[in-house]
Amino acid sequence: MKTVILAGGKGTRLWPLSRELMPKQFIRFLDDRSLFQKSVERALLFSKPGEIFIVTNRDYRFRVLDDLRELGIEIPEDNILLEPSARNTLPAILWATLRIEEEFGDSVVAVLPSDHLIEVNEAYERAFENAEKLAKDHLVTFGIKPTRPHTGYGYIKPGEKIEEDGRIIGYKVSEFKEKPDLETAKRYVESGYYWNSGMFAFSSSLFIEEVRKHAPDVWEAFEESGDIEEAYNRVPEISIDYGVMEKTDKAAVVPLNTKWSDLGSFDAIYEVLEKDDDGNAVRVRGKNGYHIGVNSKNNLIMTERLTATVGVEDLIIIDTGDALLVARKGESQRVKEVYKALKELG
Ligand code: GDD
Ligand code: MG
Repeated sequence: MKTVILAGGKGTRLWPLSRELMPKQFIRFLDDRSLFQKSVERALLFSKPGEIFIVTNRDYRFRVLDDLRELGIEIPEDNILLEPSARNTLPAILWATLRIEEEFGDSVVAVLPSDHLIEVNEAYERAFENAEKLAKDHLVTFGIKPTRPHTGYGYIKPGEKIEEDGRIIGYKVSEFKEKPDLETAKRYVESGYYWNSGMFAFSSSLFIEEVRKHAPDVWEAFEESGDIEEAYNRVPEISIDYGVMEKTDKAAVVPLNTKWSDLGSFDAIYEVLEKDDDGNAVRVRGKNGYHIGVNSKNNLIMTERLTATVGVEDLIIIDTGDALLVARKGESQRVKEVYKALKELG
């Protein structure tokens, strides 16, 4: 299997940890591996280094190279596709898929985002085995059982089951809806929809055909341009979810029963980090990083300097040395408004 790793996103809800030049996928949240490095390690479960393609923004070239060097993995530099501008996921995935077709002919391609945390276990490996079988005739998604009506995800309604040797290996998708409103999301959760994990698998020829059919302007931008510069100047900004998955009748879903978090906000990060007896999740870094808590409970504290909290609960405190965020837990989705305000300041 060939793997495409998407590593060009910005992650604006994690300011000040994530910055324009240090987006979420390159941050080391939990241990000494960045989310991008973790995706590369997952790609190596199914692909050789020469079969892994990375699509990222030009601005992140050195981050990608540094992270790969640190892992000691020799992915050919030709396999690192550097986008001149961010056009969301559909152009990125199409570019890499066209490259794969050119080099290897029709192939099964897995697409991995690099902005989430996922537990690799037997269920994960089995899901990919099933996806590989389905990929010839389907655009395969991986369905996570939802825990709440999150409006930032895609929702998948499983339809007719697909069997092999009397065993269910997946379902036809009878509806795919990207980022529904809250009311709709609630209804979906109650009626057994899955969350879209953001990973995909398909045969390259089928995917290219489906893009041509459902997003012809995206397909034409690549087909008719002389070089990548021109293609990116032309191509509209659109995600695979809106551009293809909502429209195709060739989608399938493989349920994936494993721990998954998209770490989309500080609240989500708090959930996955280990907590002390007072429910504080504390991550310190650098030579000065240290936390002293007095009667402080259930806070998320990430700091590079000596930080003390007294009598506070349910706070998010993120100190990166040059910027400080203090937020109430439960409202961390709104951090993206800070990012917006900063952009306006220039
Ligand atoms: N190369 C490249 N270029 N990568 C990109 C770009 C781009 O312009 N934009 C985003 N990415 C990368 C991100 O770094 C991330 O790894 C992945 O593509 C997904 O993009 P997001 O922007 O994070 O998408 P999302 O979280 O809003 O939604 C997607 O993921 C959800 C699960 O986390 C959708 O697939 C949803 O349906 C899904 O539920
Ligand atoms: Mg995301």
